[in-house]
Amino acid sequence: MKPIQVGLLGIGTVGSGTFNVLKRNQEEIKRRAGRGIEITMVADLDTERAKAAVGGGVQVVSDARAVIANPDIDIVIELIGGYGIAKQLVMEAIAAGKHVVTANKALLAVHGTEIFEAAQQKGVMVAFEAAVAGGIPIIKALREGLTANSIQWIAGIINGTTNFILSEMRDKGLDFGTVLKEAQRLGYAEADPTFDIEGVDAAHKVTLMSAIAFGIPVQFSKAHVEGITKLAAQDIKYAEQLGYRIKLLGVTKRAKNGIELRVHPSLVPAKRLLANVEGAMNAVVVHGDAVGTTLYYGKGAGSEPTASAVIADLVDITRLHTADAAQRVPHLAFHPNAMNDHLD
Ligand code: HSE
Repeated sequence: MKPIQVGLLGIGTVGSGTFNVLKRNQEEIKRRAGRGIEITMVADLDTERAKAAVGGGVQVVSDARAVIANPDIDIVIELIGGYGIAKQLVMEAIAAGKHVVTANKALLAVHGTEIFEAAQQKGVMVAFEAAVAGGIPIIKALREGLTANSIQWIAGIINGTTNFILSEMRDKGLDFGTVLKEAQRLGYAEADPTFDIEGVDAAHKVTLMSAIAFGIPVQFSKAHVEGITKLAAQDIKYAEQLGYRIKLLGVTKRAKNGIELRVHPSLVPAKRLLANVEGAMNAVVVHGDAVGTTLYYGKGAGSEPTASAVIADLVDITRLHTADAAQRVPHLAFHPNAMNDHLD
């Protein structure tokens, strides 16, 4: 069967990571998906940067609509970000019958209801594992692994930039501005870092988790949002002296009269697992009535960790897209010689 063809809109940090991982692990990914997955077309305003990132053999264009109009493309990956042109392109891709993979938490937290409805009507998937907690497969865990549970609450460190800032301020005594610049240099921060430091990015992510966990519409406007800009180095020091660490937590839980949805700095006892999540790492704790408390930990930002989640969605869609029903469930995709290789 010929590979499923993918068009990529925006080849920045995550886009180039996606391209590289897909190429590096293409044989394994093909076995797991039941079919090859190839990025055959890339749209980016900076075509020179795009060409340098993908090399030959991939069509590079400046007009994203050329990707959507290409009848050979089955899946469009949106990595442009923001609510503006990204929303138009996602809606146009859906209207053109393409499946969509996106890391755009802002777009989905604000316009998700409209986008998911359009996708449902058209019979295509909008997949967004990369939108929440980077490489941690938390969307899959909530949707699939914990599907038997009545989820009671979720609490997480889901913004790498702010966790990095709080960790570096505490450990190295560095000031806020210096650490923020470093987070931007390392590719953790959003294009507009206000979203990170004011808690908006974490609120987008917790809004999405809340919608999945509690079966409610995405309602970012209902979230209580407070970032870390009002914290002083002294607050961090005093918290430490009292046996606590300050963490920016995203929390959603069942309450008496509905669902709580909030992001704010919290005092976490130093011996708790969440208190020991350092740097740009993310961690999400989910409590279900059957399973109890579960913890998910990993890299929440960066090129290849986020690419890992984008490609997981590509594999899921490819499995569903194939006519062979046996491919529709994750299977044990053994390499024919895996055991021998291992024994050698
Ligand atoms: N700016 C985000 C963060 C990137 O720092 O976590 C990943 O969503």
